[in-house]
Amino acid sequence: MTKPLVCIKNLCKSFSTKKQKPVALDNVNLDIHEGEILALVGESGSGKTTLGRILAGLEQATSGKVLFQGEVQPLHYTTNDFRKNAERIQMVFQDPMSSLNPRWTVQETLSEPLLLSPEKPDNTEINRLVKHWLQQVGLTEHHAQRYPFELSGGQRQRVGIARALIREPKLLICDEPISALDVSVQAQIINLLLDIQKKYSLTLLFIAHDLSMVEYVSDRVAVLYHGKIVETGETRRVFDHPWHIYTKSLLHANHSLRKFLE
Ligand SMILES: Nc1ncnc2c1ncn2[C@@H]1O[C@H](COP(=O)(O)OP(=O)(O)OP(=O)(O)O)[C@@H](O)[C@H]1O
Ligand SMILES: [Mg+2]
Repeated sequence: MTKPLVCIKNLCKSFSTKKQKPVALDNVNLDIHEGEILALVGESGSGKTTLGRILAGLEQATSGKVLFQGEVQPLHYTTNDFRKNAERIQMVFQDPMSSLNPRWTVQETLSEPLLLSPEKPDNTEINRLVKHWLQQVGLTEHHAQRYPFELSGGQRQRVGIARALIREPKLLICDEPISALDVSVQAQIINLLLDIQKKYSLTLLFIAHDLSMVEYVSDRVAVLYHGKIVETGETRRVFDHPWHIYTKSLLHANHSLRKFLE
């Protein structure tokens, strides 16, 4: 097994609301290995998005730490940390319409991470990279001047993927990347992510509800239940011989739903 790219150690997160302090993550320990596709599954509210957002620096953990290639990630991100993180960990969100700036063209959306990079590439290099990444996600340079509302849902998600990848991060977190899309384009986006993962030896953290998709795409699975990791393992083993009672019921619920829909 390859060495961990990311080590999550004793991570806790509680949100302070007026009445209570709901615990979203409760002492999470998890390694993400270089080059693997790790699926993070669990019922709604189990803490999947919170974990992804903490890894991407968009949320602050209450306690615990995250190590990236052995280096402790900051608890609270400064602007400089975000710039640095663009080469480490990036995230693709569920709803591309709300994650893209509606006032920016695709060109502007894809240029921004490059303009913020320490290398500050010149315009020729920016245009080259924008064109390259549009091609990598199955779009063309003709899409560069469009606004998000001038694209289909699938095309918008392709732009979201290109934006996340343009600084070539090592880890890509995909939070339910296809659940807001029409069924007809879901498989295309999954296959695109798998192709890019192979081509660039990316590490993928795949947050998903759909267990049949998880079975299809992932090397390993981590199961989150009420903010705790209750089981991790190779995908085939988890699906064929789940250990934890919650994993069994999750698989059973998925199986029953599929039978119901058939
Ligand atoms: N900003 C917030 N303020 C207060 N509570 C929050 C906040 N964000 C998340 N939570 C709570 O933390 C818990 C975990 O939420 P999270 O969004 O991580 O779940 P999830 O597993 O991604 O769910 P889903 O599958 O529905 O997307 C939930 O109880 C949620 O209500
Ligand atoms: Mg979520």
